[in-house]
Parts: sequence; C-alpha cells; structure tokens
Amino acid sequence: MVKADHEFGGQHTDIKLAIVERYLKRYSAALHTWCDSVWYIDAFAGTGKRTVRVEARAGDLFERPAPERVEQRRGSAQIAIDIDPPFDRLVFMDAKRKHFEALCHLRDQHPDRDITVLRGDANTLIQGAIRWDGWKKTRAVMFLDPYGMEVEWKTLQMIAETKAIDVWYLFPLAGLYRQAARSFAKIDNSKEASITRMLGTDSWKQELYSSLGPPPLEDLLGALESDEERQRNADVATIEKYVQKRLKTIFPEVLDPYPLPPAEKPQRFSLFCAISNPSPKAIALAQQFGRDILKG
Ligand SMILES: C[S@@+](CC[C@H](N)C(=O)[O-])C[C@H]1O[C@@H](n2cnc3c(N)ncnc32)[C@H](O)[C@@H]1O
Repeated sequence: MVKADHEFGGQHTDIKLAIVERYLKRYSAALHTWCDSVWYIDAFAGTGKRTVRVEARAGDLFERPAPERVEQRRGSAQIAIDIDPPFDRLVFMDAKRKHFEALCHLRDQHPDRDITVLRGDANTLIQGAIRWDGWKKTRAVMFLDPYGMEVEWKTLQMIAETKAIDVWYLFPLAGLYRQAARSFAKIDNSKEASITRMLGTDSWKQELYSSLGPPPLEDLLGALESDEERQRNADVATIEKYVQKRLKTIFPEVLDPYPLPPAEKPQRFSLFCAISNPSPKAIALAQQFGRDILKG
C-alpha cells in the first residue's frame, strides 16, 4: 500500500456510499431547480479513494480461481465531485495530514470546480464557521462518516440551527453499545463523558439503564446510592430508537435509519438522514428521497 492509501470498512461501505450517492443525485437535481448555491460538505472526507482488498477465490465448475487483488474504488469525496448536476461548491475536511494532502491533490485535479479542503478536527471546524447569514440562499448536504464516536452533539446542534443542511450521519451504534456496558458500574468516567458528548445529555443513564428489582429492605439506601445494581436493559434496537429520538429533538425530521452491515446481528452502524430545514416542502422531499433510496 502506498502511504495515502485508505483501506477501511467492509462490504457495508459499498452499501453506505451507494445510499449516499443516490441521495446526492436526487438532492442535487431537485435543489438545482430553484437554488443557485447547492453545496456538499464532507466532514470526515478520507482521501477521495478507497483501497479494497478482494479475497482470493477458489475455482469451481464455472469460474477460474482468482488470486487476491487490491482495487481502488471511489470514496465519498470523489463520488460527490462526480454528481451531476454538479454541486456548486464542495468542502472536504479531514484531520489526518496524509488524507488532507490527498484531498488537496484531488482538488488540484479539478481546477474548474469550487473545492475547499480543510485540515483539522471536524467538530472544531464546523462549530467555528457554520453560523452564517448566507444559509438563507444556500442549501447543502453534509456527510458525517467518522470511524467512531467523534461527532459531538454540539456540532449536530449547530448544523441543525442552519435550517439549510441535510445530514447523513453514520452513527457508531457498536461504539455506543460497547461503551454503554451492561453493568453501569463498569462504565468509567471517560466512557461516560464520551457517551454524553455524543448524545448531548446524560439522560441515557436513566433511559437505557434500570435497577435490578427491588433490593432487600436493609440494603435499600446503599443500593440506591450505588451503581452496582444498575443494568442496561435496552437492547440494540432500543438504543437505536433512543438515538433517533435524541436526533429528533434538534432536527425537524430524521428518517428511519438503515442498519449496517445489513445482514449482521447486531448491526454495527445506523445510517441516519436528518433534515434541518423545517419547511413542510423540504421535509416531504427528503422523505420521498428516503423512501426511494433506503428501500432500494
Ligand atoms: C471512515 S473514514 C471516511 C471515509 C470517507 N467518507 C470515504 O468514503 O472515503 C473517516 C475519516 O475521518 C478522519 N477523521 C478521524 N477523526 C477526525 C476528526 N475528528 N475530524 C476530521 N476528520 C477525522 C480520518 O482521518 C478518516 O479519513
């Protein structure tokens, strides 16, 4: 692998990118009918490419054996550049220097396009610049595709406040259910803080956890004061519902998430689409796209 190669995800990554690509095509076509300034913002943009290792295949009656091979596929930034009608502006962010350099190279290969590449933590970059008067006349789709629990609730809140940005968010459900251990007592302070930072509240402690039956009378006071007895009774589906409910507190519409990988139980990610524009027209449009795209 050369240094800027970016090998990540599995087969579900193809599905994730196919869903987002379908949305971007529909979105760009619909929005360009009335809006002159339609943007794409990729806050965890990677390099524009994806290195995929395709396993060796044994031969059978119909096919010859094939050795392992390495393929280069398009990453989200390249997919967004290729959308037709084209986005009027593209903003790519990444924290990693090699990825930033690869994105600059991608930008330089498209001198006719308005592409901005930013290096840094997506939360800091978004929170520092997203408040802007121009959102009244500009619409955007933002893709939040972190490896793990990097997206802060405050970032989502500020995106929602623009009332102009649709967000595709690959929510790290496995990250959450692993950090939110079955036994509340096993969650240390740093895990507790990272869950709260991602969900924007500590109400998850009540919503996802409950006490294990009534304690004996003589232990009542001790048990109430202790976390020993609290267990997460919420399963993965309930946790996902809770996340959707949280997102709905700040976004006027959140489409039902798509589980990724789709055939894996429990799923590792939930791909959410949240709409920040409260107008019934914008919501109806996003719901229509969602129905068409998420249901195949
Ligand atoms: C899953 S990859 C994104 C893949 C990309 N969407 C694609 O399809 O090619 C996550 C990216 O986020 C970057 N990253 C990790 N933490 C970040 C942060 N706090 N802010 C911005 N970028 C970050 C990583 O360097 C990596 O390139």
